[in-house]
Amino acid sequence: MTQPAVSQTFPPLETERLFLRSFTFADTDFVFQHFSNPAVAQYLLDEPPLTDIAQAQEIIEFFLEPEGKTYNRWGLFRKADQQCIGSCGFHKWDRRNARAEIGYDLSPDFWGQGLMAEALRAAIAHGFDHMQLNRIDALVYVENERSAKLLQRLGFTQEGVLRDYFCLDGKYYDHFLFSLLQREWKA
Ligand SMILES: CC(C)(COP(=O)(O)OP(=O)(O)OC[C@H]1O[C@@H](n2cnc3c(N)ncnc32)[C@H](O)[C@@H]1OP(=O)(O)O)[C@@H](O)C(=O)NCCC(=O)NCCS
Repeated sequence: MTQPAVSQTFPPLETERLFLRSFTFADTDFVFQHFSNPAVAQYLLDEPPLTDIAQAQEIIEFFLEPEGKTYNRWGLFRKADQQCIGSCGFHKWDRRNARAEIGYDLSPDFWGQGLMAEALRAAIAHGFDHMQLNRIDALVYVENERSAKLLQRLGFTQEGVLRDYFCLDGKYYDHFLFSLLQREWKA
């Protein structure tokens, strides 16, 4: 299988413990397991959990060639053993207003090790330094304490509550709106 072209806008990134790179179809099993895991899916209320491996392939296809698009997703791979442990990336990139939303998810076996904070520091630095973002948004379900804590540790400000923001299976869910500005990150 030929590898997809490396995106200049969303290139692979590296941290102390992780490689961040676009998913390929070789990652289909992980993507399916991960996004059908109730512990992960319970807080991703903009989409229902996956129930079919074909949906994982569609996700990979959607993110395969991010160059020129307003979104991307990096898979997070542990350097120690190349194991995929989660993902993060930008979406809703609004170039005119220099802002984008960040999203992220980690498999529960790897929670509590600072791995997502490490990945997001690299993604955020990339957003401010190379995508010329001025503002990064994050939307978090109000009961997702781990995610809110993570954003606060990274210096995000909680701006308010978006009431009934996502609807899943006929139920509406309030979300916190968080943001981080480039000048705050650089300070
Ligand atoms: C949100 C989510 C990524 C947070 O994961 P996490 O592992 O708690 O996040 P971090 O990477 O910031 O790790 C912080 C924890 O690691 C601990 N830690 C251990 N070693 C560490 C290190 N070297 N550096 C930093 N923190 C470390 C911290 O003390 C902290 O533990 P605590 O929460 O018990 O105090 C994870 O819960 C998740 O993926 N949830 C499901 C999907 C989801 O909710 N996505 C977000 C939607 S908005």
